[in-house]
Amino acid sequence: MPVKTIIEPFRIKSVEPIRWTTRKEREQLLRAAYYNLFLLPADDVLIDLLTDSGTGAMSTRQWAAVMVGDESYAGGRSFDHFRDSIQDIFSYKHVIPTHQGRAAERILFGVACKKGDVVPNNTHFDTTRANVEYVGAEAVDLVIAEGRQPSLKHPFKGNMDVAGLEGLIQKVGRERIPLVMLTVTNNSGGGQPVSMENVRQVSAVCRKHGLPLYFDACRFAENAYFIKLREPGYEAKAPKEIAQEMFRYGDGCTMSAKKDGMANIGGFLCTNDDRLAEREKDLLILTEGYPTYGGLAGRDLEAIAVGVQEALQEDYLRYRIASTAYLGNHIAEQGVPIVQPPGGHAVYIDARAFLPHIPPTQFPGVALAAELYLEGGIRSVEIGTLMFGAAAKMDLVRLAIPRRVYTQSHVDYVVEVILEVWKNRDRIQPLKLSHEAPFLRHFTARLEPVEKVMAGE
Ligand SMILES: Cc1ncc(COP(=O)(O)O)c(C=O)c1O
Repeated sequence: MPVKTIIEPFRIKSVEPIRWTTRKEREQLLRAAYYNLFLLPADDVLIDLLTDSGTGAMSTRQWAAVMVGDESYAGGRSFDHFRDSIQDIFSYKHVIPTHQGRAAERILFGVACKKGDVVPNNTHFDTTRANVEYVGAEAVDLVIAEGRQPSLKHPFKGNMDVAGLEGLIQKVGRERIPLVMLTVTNNSGGGQPVSMENVRQVSAVCRKHGLPLYFDACRFAENAYFIKLREPGYEAKAPKEIAQEMFRYGDGCTMSAKKDGMANIGGFLCTNDDRLAEREKDLLILTEGYPTYGGLAGRDLEAIAVGVQEALQEDYLRYRIASTAYLGNHIAEQGVPIVQPPGGHAVYIDARAFLPHIPPTQFPGVALAAELYLEGGIRSVEIGTLMFGAAAKMDLVRLAIPRRVYTQSHVDYVVEVILEVWKNRDRIQPLKLSHEAPFLRHFTARLEPVEKVMAGE
């Protein structure tokens, strides 16, 4: 009988110690961080599931590539490696390096969008929404209805509502929509994939109305693997072939290479539009750097060139998706409400269902994330009312899994801590804001417990 255990498809060559703290220390640390886990020193975190962005472990091949990085200001050969590797998968004509994903977004929306425009997306990520709104445009989320119901199982909950897209185009007019975007996988909607069929349908609507289709491609490899696992006709295809097909339905992309680029920094912007690319490169020179390095070192370009290919390796994706599902399924089996099915890069706990005694205005997601830290030194992140304000449709706590970093026993530990918090959930206290910034407030917000109102007061 073939062995069924899915193992980490690597062995460990270099280790980084992690540090235990006592519960008492964590209580103090949490108060000092104003109940916002972004404000914690990372050394005081035992298992850091804040993000899968830029936190992955690079491979020996990536580190070797770092050593051959060409640091020339212009025309460096590392850019050629970077562009060729990206074009091999993404196929777009212009590849513009940026220091990370949001820089690609800022340049794209800065050039393609103006005040009064409308940008549809399945679900905008926070930086994407902020960059759209920064130029005075409106960011509209059009994920399918199933994607808004956390407990509902559906293979492609990241799909865009195609009729909703048609309706929006009719309503606001084609000329107010500079581009349509699909986020693969849909991070803010629970790390859920988009099917190839949906990509094809969205692409057809865009073609019909002469609108360009862009991908927010951060987790393109994980999305490709979900298509392989779940969409009829793709079982026998390699993840790379699937990714190549998907990108052919679009006209460009933004990408944070800190995710499926398997790098610690970097991003890029792609387009097939020559005129747009020229304006994008002008803005790039103004704010990021020369077009053959765009805010990155030559060594970063090399790491990404290798990383985007490694992200598509099937044994890696099999382990990655299985490991995330293991965490999600083990807590869900004990009743913990999660976004179903588990996403590719993260498990999302439904904090509104976990803590029904805390209303969204009192930040159930932030309160639950704080409790996971108190209980076991685990850092997670709220994706809900603190992040999106009144626009939040759900209050989720995301446990994002860094790529190739934690082992099976780390995952078992996380399961145990979550189940302990689940048992004592009634004791978790609501929070209120004491300080907030005008944009992306969740990064710096300060919170404090809502004072208990005594009987008779
Ligand atoms: C879907 C999505 N888009 C865009 C970004 C922004 O990328 P970066 O953090 O590299 O600026 C992220 C990062 O978390 C993301 O998850």
